[in-house]
Amino acid sequence: MTVEFTYSTSLSEKASTTIIGINQLAKEKDKKAPNLKFIASKALKDSLTNLKNFKSFSGERNSTFSFHNENQENLLYGIGDSSKYSTEDLRKVAGNLFKYLKINNSNNVNIVFDSFRGKNKSSEAVIAFVEALYMSDYEFIKYKSESKKFSLTINLVLTAAKDVNSAKKAETSIINTVESLNVTRDFVNEAPNVLTSVEYAKQVQNDVTKNLKGVKVKILNKAQIKKEKMNLFLSVNAGSGYEPRLVHLTYTPKKVTKKTKHFALVGKGIVFDTGGYSLKPSGAMAGMKFDMGGSATVYGAFRAAVLNNSPYKLTCVLAMTDNAVNSFATFPDAIVKGRNGKTVEILNTDAEGRLILADALDYTCDLNPDGIIDAATLTGACLVALGNQVCAVLGNNQKFTNQLLSNCKKQEEYAWELPIINEWRSDIKSKVADIKNIGSGRLAGTAIGAAFLQEFIKNDIPWIHLDIAGVCDSQSHLSYCPADGASGLMVRSLNRMLTNG
Ligand code: BES
Ligand code: ZN
Ligand code: ZN
Repeated sequence: MTVEFTYSTSLSEKASTTIIGINQLAKEKDKKAPNLKFIASKALKDSLTNLKNFKSFSGERNSTFSFHNENQENLLYGIGDSSKYSTEDLRKVAGNLFKYLKINNSNNVNIVFDSFRGKNKSSEAVIAFVEALYMSDYEFIKYKSESKKFSLTINLVLTAAKDVNSAKKAETSIINTVESLNVTRDFVNEAPNVLTSVEYAKQVQNDVTKNLKGVKVKILNKAQIKKEKMNLFLSVNAGSGYEPRLVHLTYTPKKVTKKTKHFALVGKGIVFDTGGYSLKPSGAMAGMKFDMGGSATVYGAFRAAVLNNSPYKLTCVLAMTDNAVNSFATFPDAIVKGRNGKTVEILNTDAEGRLILADALDYTCDLNPDGIIDAATLTGACLVALGNQVCAVLGNNQKFTNQLLSNCKKQEEYAWELPIINEWRSDIKSKVADIKNIGSGRLAGTAIGAAFLQEFIKNDIPWIHLDIAGVCDSQSHLSYCPADGASGLMVRSLNRMLTNG
């Protein structure tokens, strides 16, 4: 990351610009000047009070107004109506402010924080603001021959010394989380000719070795996956020129007692989804490098939780392969026996995510965790149901599901529960095998995918399925995420759950 923070109660003289948030409502009430009580600098206060042109500045969200006083450049930044201003609004303002500073090549600034936070509590608001600025500072430009370098130092001016201390304390965990979220983004954005299943496993292993001390890495190759009888996983890999990989990571916290809970994460790692024999039309195929987004998301969350010293035992299982076509590829109508002994009629080879997850979930159940969360770009139907803004959440245990939903709410990441009803469970019964990998119609596709996965959860282990098909990329409505490409969403909510419970 190229943005750096210092935290202080005074303005830095090195900064070329001082930035002050202006609340639209306060401005309307008092046409003369903004609320200046949080500005310690007398010179700046005087300039603002005397600023005649200020009247023309509305304080509308993301509007700007610059002026000079003495040797300083100042920027008034509209935060809009601060009576309806959540910490998520604050993140969005931070994202837009970052874009503004980048366009204007401002490299060193003071931000008078209290003028930005509205009615939000200082400690939470600082975290949201800093987190969003770090998140905004991401680009996937390694393949660009020419790119502009931009670096930014922000002196965050806080009102009280205790705010400075708490901001400094929170910083490490914010950096751990956003760096991990950027690892997720990098994996998702990487091209599929580079990030083959074999390469992906290697890169995860290298990252663990370098950054996650004490985490155990086990990587199963094709022969070992065969030995595990993961035939559904292998059926997806059958048409590939690359071996599959199952990455199995284990983290044990420093303090372990009998009460220490064990949570497992499982991710869909289809490094490219052609659809197999049920080939995708070319318009729907381009972009399918992101089909390993579930695995990258759970890896990012695992990484963040480990760095943030999660008190839980954590397992992370990533199933990696492409879904390609050659003469060995699985035919639609194939019947394959999964690791748990159930037979599956594969009627559509494009419904491959559920096949690799089926075996990975069964493998994970054998570790007997207290809860399993899987993430996958599983269904196009998820976009129909919830758009590209909301993550679908399905599960078999309301308490566990609520725990996740409450963490998403705290993190202000959109997530919504969908039901799995018995009718949909019946819909995947096959005439010739135990189950089939698609439903009979086109409706309720996301839940039918989840109903299929549930067939592979043993002993009623609490389980949550996240369909991230919508939220994994293209979050142009979130200023702190790139408009195109990987978002890194859900890493923060999962990290929250895995570090705080
Ligand atoms: N990777 C896709 C899901 C997907 C499609 C995500 C489009 C985002 C955008 C998945 O493997 C798939 O192709 N699912 C099929 C399932 C169907 C055959 C039951 C789908 O959604 O069409
Ligand atoms: Zn598919
Ligand atoms: Zn897929």
